[in-house]
Amino acid sequence: MFVELAIFIISSLFFYYLYVHKKIHNFFVKRGVKFLPGIPMFGNVCNSLFTTKHFIEDLEIVYRAFPDERYVGFIEGTTPIILIRDPELAKAITVKDFDHFVNHKDFFSKDTDPLFGGSLFMMKDDKWRDMRFTLSPAFTGSKMRLMMNFMSEVSHNIMDYLKENNSDEIHVDDLVRRYTLDVIASAGFGLQVNSVKDKKNDFFKMGINLFYFNIKQKIIIFISTQFPKIGKKLGLTLFSKEVMDFFKTTVKNTISYRENNNVVRPDMIQLLMEATKGTLKAGNTEKDEVTTTEDSKSKTVAREWTEDEIIGQVFIFFAAGFESSAGAITMAIHELAVNPEVQEKLYQEIKQFEKINKVLSYENVSQLKYMDCVINETLRKWTAAIFMDRVCTKPYELPPPRKGGKPYLLNPGDIVYNMVNVIHMDEKYHPKPEVFDPDRFSDENKHKIQPFTFVPFGMGPRNCIASRFAILEMKVFLYDLVLHYKVVKSKRTSDPIRLHSNDFNIRALGGTYVKFEPRD
Ligand code: HEM
Ligand SMILES: *[C@@H]1O[C@H](CO)[C@@H](O)[C@H](O)[C@H]1NC(C)=O
Ligand SMILES: *[C@@H]1O[C@H](CO)[C@@H](O)[C@H](O)[C@H]1NC(C)=O
Ligand SMILES: *[C@@H]1O[C@H](CO)[C@@H](O)[C@H](O)[C@H]1NC(C)=O
Repeated sequence: MFVELAIFIISSLFFYYLYVHKKIHNFFVKRGVKFLPGIPMFGNVCNSLFTTKHFIEDLEIVYRAFPDERYVGFIEGTTPIILIRDPELAKAITVKDFDHFVNHKDFFSKDTDPLFGGSLFMMKDDKWRDMRFTLSPAFTGSKMRLMMNFMSEVSHNIMDYLKENNSDEIHVDDLVRRYTLDVIASAGFGLQVNSVKDKKNDFFKMGINLFYFNIKQKIIIFISTQFPKIGKKLGLTLFSKEVMDFFKTTVKNTISYRENNNVVRPDMIQLLMEATKGTLKAGNTEKDEVTTTEDSKSKTVAREWTEDEIIGQVFIFFAAGFESSAGAITMAIHELAVNPEVQEKLYQEIKQFEKINKVLSYENVSQLKYMDCVINETLRKWTAAIFMDRVCTKPYELPPPRKGGKPYLLNPGDIVYNMVNVIHMDEKYHPKPEVFDPDRFSDENKHKIQPFTFVPFGMGPRNCIASRFAILEMKVFLYDLVLHYKVVKSKRTSDPIRLHSNDFNIRALGGTYVKFEPRD
């Protein structure tokens, strides 16, 4: 009896998925959009779901299958998605016609995760506009100058630590995550954490917890994305109660400490506190520098934010700022180890700079031109962006996918993925994409890069709000490291570098291990 029931259920599921799968095929066929058939229930994401490939590679397979299409169909589980191949079309969607594509798709609903769900990244429409406007002043040039001090302080802590504890082989993934964690703790929360010394501090534990999904969390993600109603009924949440409570308590305590002791520190939490009280001037004096949507430039924000909403924003700064920049810095160090001539050129520039300026300052960091090229080349190969997902909010007609094809009408709720990493690695736009060549970005060569084929921080009003912060954070650390150490290969340094496939993060297969040889 039990066996029969099981067979019945499994075969019903099988036929159900077969039916859904067929429906998606018909959907694309009817609209004249090409696609790869994929597998029922999993579509085109089988490899990444079972961790045999990174998600970027699943996208790349579909992207490369149709070199002459402007867009193709991508089947994510049971969801049909339009994958935009053409950079010009991606520009239209993310910049010119942004009004039709204001929101990100719901990865996790607000119920699955209130902190992430309530953050700027997931906010929608006018609420997003207001919050973006509220937060933008935190990332202007003058704020970056102040935040750079926090970065330098943390970077110096790490250099001090390395002086005494430089082992044979450095696990760069770990070391750099301690850097970005301490930076975001300081610049975001106003907390002085020294993660290299205090290895097991709560902050670091929470950060690691957030990004390394165990099997239980993977199942929750699968249920919540495939069967949102069931997920909601079961009250599934992505992050453990422990992690969420930690953030809530930390933010609340910091706010009340500051209020009671009249402490003012130029960090993100301060800005958010001012925003809730309405003391923050919305008509910012640095209007040229504020990254906001055009229409919000002159208006003032009347909306009052609740404490939970504030916590959500501090949380997203933490979540978005910790892993993405750590991945980029780690890959930069890995590339320097396997490209010694690039490293030497960078070292010469830094040494020269130090001779003249003594210390790295916000005023003259832009003199480091080759550093800029190294960072951009790192972000070309290894940005955490993956794609720019957008949900259609107003009907929109895509031009035909090819000459002679018919236009495609997107309806509200339809999802498009604009490609980032696969375009960065397409030889059509970046010749010999595997080669780490910072000179692609030199003054002589820069003009050869087609517009919108290098977008590590996304595009348009919904791009990364903190791109300057991230670039500065990378520069501060690489400057100190390359000035004091020569990064050399150790036994475990992989070359060429391959992407791991355990999760969405950007990390080298087998990890990044190198040796740091002290200079002089
Ligand atoms: C190298 C490091 C980083 C990379 C590669 C990166 C990349 C991105 C990308 C691709 C997006 C989406 C853009 C789009 O869809 O067009 C984004 C959004 C965002 N990033 Fe970053 N990011 C980095 C560092 C940071 C840091 C350090 C913070 C915070 C301190 C941060 C906060 C955010 C936020 C809040 C959003 C959502 C913006 C919105 O929806 O309005 N990111 N980032
Ligand atoms: C670093 O080295 C110092 C001096 O050798 C030692 O006292 C300290 O315990 C080491 N710290 C760590 C975290 O290994
Ligand atoms: C670099 O910045 C420092 C500190 O802001 C300043 O004193 C110095 O004159 C600057 N150097 C150059 C060459 O502009
Ligand atoms: C590096 O990329 C940024 C965009 O992320 C761009 O603004 C900057 O001009 C680039 N630098 C060089 C040297 O190409």
